[in-house]
Amino acid sequence: MTRNATSVLPRQGHNGLLPSDIRRHLETRWLGRELRCLDVVDSTNTVARDWARSGAPNGAVVIAESQTHGRGRFGRHWISPPYRNLYLSTVLRSAVPVERFPQMSLLAGVATCEAICEWHAAAIKWPNDVVIDGRKVAGILAEADSDRGQRVVVLGIGVNVNAQREDFPPELRDKAGSLAMALGHSVDRARVAGRLLTHLERRFEQWRDEGFARIAEAWRARSDLLGREIVVQEPGGAVAGRAIDLDDDGALRLRLASGAEHRVVAGDVIRVLGVAGREIDGRRG
Ligand code: BTN
Repeated sequence: MTRNATSVLPRQGHNGLLPSDIRRHLETRWLGRELRCLDVVDSTNTVARDWARSGAPNGAVVIAESQTHGRGRFGRHWISPPYRNLYLSTVLRSAVPVERFPQMSLLAGVATCEAICEWHAAAIKWPNDVVIDGRKVAGILAEADSDRGQRVVVLGIGVNVNAQREDFPPELRDKAGSLAMALGHSVDRARVAGRLLTHLERRFEQWRDEGFARIAEAWRARSDLLGREIVVQEPGGAVAGRAIDLDDDGALRLRLASGAEHRVVAGDVIRVLGVAGREIDGRRG
């Protein structure tokens, strides 16, 4: 068992994750074969990045029980209560051009959604949030780094597995959820980790060997946005339109009321309306 110096003791009924538990559920050849399970870290993405700089192999994975500075997209904080969820980062060393990085984070969204769907129906909200009944249960943060001139991507995935409503701050309680909240019972985190890494390796190899087309197809099949009227918060302001498709660079194409097309390259979907414009989800993920 690998543990770091800072330790939080598991609460009664919450067992710490062990590499051996996770390996039992791993059906991968290279992803997660080098695996560190830690207690409290600032962010698993930081730990994985530092490990990459000191030679972590392709596919090395860091999992922590808790994060003091879990990072989300746009500099947000990722709520990381101990012994409840999965906070996982993987080191990917790949000669992939920078322009294709967004595809990598979309494929991670597909793989995460596929893993979660083994327990409960879920959908992808652009770009790669996984939602159950409109509540965000997983998020992905891909960060690029370099190690002695070689490009490295650290792919961080947070899955709310056994978090309960009170684990989230009041302002997130209507927006965030977990697998356990959806199912009404707790779930084996080691199994979720194993299944997640298994799906991730399969989708990564498919993308590397065959390109983006099959990933985009899987993304479209699991997206709950295409064809709907949505509002996206972009860095420059909010834009409303009908989500019409995903572009190869990961951008979401919108048809505006004026008939013009608009490409969203960065932002958050803040409202989802039905096909006829009826609001079905006004929550921010
Ligand atoms: C988002 O939806 O905003 C992305 C959230 C990503 C959270 C995960 S938890 C594991 C890894 N470590 C981090 O600090 N962030 C990612």
